[in-house]
Amino acid sequence: MTIIVTGGAGFIGSNFIFHMLNKYPDYRIICLDCLTYAGNLSTLEPVMDNPNFRFVKESITDRAAVEKLFEEEHPDMVVNFAAESHVDRSIENPQVFLDTNIIGTSVLMDACRKYGIKRYHQVSTDEVYGDLPLDRPDMFFTETTPIHTSSPYSSSKAGADLLVLAYHRTYGLPVSISRCSNNYGPYHFPEKLIPLMIINALHDKPLPVYGEGLNVRDWLYVEDHCKAIDLVIHNGRVGEVYNIGGHNEMRNIDIVKLICKELGKPESLITYVTDRKGHDMRYAIDPTKIHDELGWLPETKFADGIKKTIKWYLDNESWWEPIVSGEYQNYYEKMYANR
Ligand code: NAD
Ligand code: TYD
Repeated sequence: MTIIVTGGAGFIGSNFIFHMLNKYPDYRIICLDCLTYAGNLSTLEPVMDNPNFRFVKESITDRAAVEKLFEEEHPDMVVNFAAESHVDRSIENPQVFLDTNIIGTSVLMDACRKYGIKRYHQVSTDEVYGDLPLDRPDMFFTETTPIHTSSPYSSSKAGADLLVLAYHRTYGLPVSISRCSNNYGPYHFPEKLIPLMIINALHDKPLPVYGEGLNVRDWLYVEDHCKAIDLVIHNGRVGEVYNIGGHNEMRNIDIVKLICKELGKPESLITYVTDRKGHDMRYAIDPTKIHDELGWLPETKFADGIKKTIKWYLDNESWWEPIVSGEYQNYYEKMYANR
């Protein structure tokens, strides 16, 4: 089995590559990643010498490069993680989200049509469903919840999902889609809530909570997401969407307070800042379908996962220090200086 994993130098894609190489020692895994600000080759260092692994630095939007790779590798599957993934950046500059997330997806699927494929899997997000009201804890996203996006990021992911389903219906491409809730764990880029708060707290810097911090996200340990995708690509039905989430809803403010407690830092570091434009209130996944059809259940409880994650950031400063001391400083200044 040969699998092209796009975006494998990012957070979830790298964790997925580690999972697959470890679980399937006879599979060949090719990482296709153009190394944007969010891609980090040092993350993949532990597998670079693995004879079953190959890294290719190209963009999924580059049709010639993608076709060349298909001709060289004859992949059985493509798992597409490659994306611009940060909502705040999408609010500042939507265009690159459309290029990578929508056009890139179409380029990959065109190559799948041209050369043949057993499975094209699209890694999507619960954000395509928009948000749920805080006062309706009985409501959850199911696979039939209408697409109703809020940000340029979620709109670009929804556009890609619709295109994937269209390629299935129109051309019979054997596709699947998974829509996961917020992930956390090792190698999470420091612009996102949990790593940003851990790293700022370690530096005794203000912890910028948007609005009142009451927004709710449904957090899943990254390994549980990787295991779910593994199940979907092997056993999931073609043409289907699977929601992935572990019923772990938390308010942002409670996460930030928990990080302060775990690190022994004062809550006085918490600073309420101007809210995100169009900020989604609550995400909450109903994972009944993937549980009933594929037997998936999350294994890591949030209380354990957050401790493991904090310990990972404490033990791996050499991974994140070069990131936060580089171009990231300009990003941080721009996004947070006058917020
Ligand atoms: P990330 O930003 O950490 O990594 C994205 C990776 O894609 C990087 O390595 C980057 O270099 C690469 N990339 C970007 N544009 C590319 C292009 N044009 N060609 C090739 N590679 C390119 O993202 P992540 O958090 O690991 O998310 C991975 C996928 O999972 C995304 O599709 C995202 O929408 C989805 N997702 C993420 C979450 C989450 O909580 N992080 C939740 C649900 C779904
Ligand atoms: P984020 O990690 O960007 O994920 P997403 O927006 O895709 O859910 O943000 C998670 C939540 O944390 C979201 O409600 C926005 C909030 N947030 C802050 O309050 N402060 C921050 O500095 C960041 C990055 C996020």
